[in-house]
Amino acid sequence: MVEVSASILNVPQGDESKIFLALEKGKANYFHIDVMDGKFVKKDTYNQMLEYASYIKRISNLPLDIHFMVENVKKAIDDFGVFEPKMMTFHIEACETYSEAMDYIEQIKGYNSKVGIAVKPDTEVAETYPVLPYAHMVLVMTVEPGKGGQTFLRDMVDKVRQAHVYIEHNDLEVDIEVDGGINLNTAKPVKREGANILVAGTSILKAVDYGEIIKELKKTKG
Ligand code: DX5
Ligand code: ZN
Repeated sequence: MVEVSASILNVPQGDESKIFLALEKGKANYFHIDVMDGKFVKKDTYNQMLEYASYIKRISNLPLDIHFMVENVKKAIDDFGVFEPKMMTFHIEACETYSEAMDYIEQIKGYNSKVGIAVKPDTEVAETYPVLPYAHMVLVMTVEPGKGGQTFLRDMVDKVRQAHVYIEHNDLEVDIEVDGGINLNTAKPVKREGANILVAGTSILKAVDYGEIIKELKKTKG
């Protein structure tokens, strides 16, 4: 079953509580929280996302899916781990060595959270393979990380396929999440190639009926 993780990066200020509740009612599976530090990517959403995560914990039962686009992964895991996220994902590009990546994996597991490893569009998915057996998810970025509302990069479909082949071939239990420019059209090829968690921000927020678009994203066929 494909799940939908609703990105709240571009929720208009002032409408947060109304929209968060509507996303829960519309049966999103997770809130996708985009944590940016102004260094790994240009934008800085760090404090706003801390506020959102804390607020969501108070008003909703939906699990948090946290995507760190930060250089200081160690600090971010501790800052967000207190909100008991279901998943915490860091970028392989933020690690200088595999042993550093293994340290973050262990730190995340210490919060009883699942571990995701993300790759930017220019990074080969094979870069994640040495640590994938210890993770629960690989996040294939289908846009350049940094902002919402961008156009899906078609070439990333092949990366999803490669990840899927590797996971099947090695008998790993690892989910494939895709993030960036996902809508009812772009969901098809990535689902066909094995993605089972779709992050969507803009396509949900601009829909009239969140429940309807989330249902369609879950069931649309490749
Ligand atoms: C981009 C973020 C994405 C993005 C998704 O850096 O990681 O989560 O906000 O938003 P849309 O669906 O608008 O591309
Ligand atoms: Zn994201």
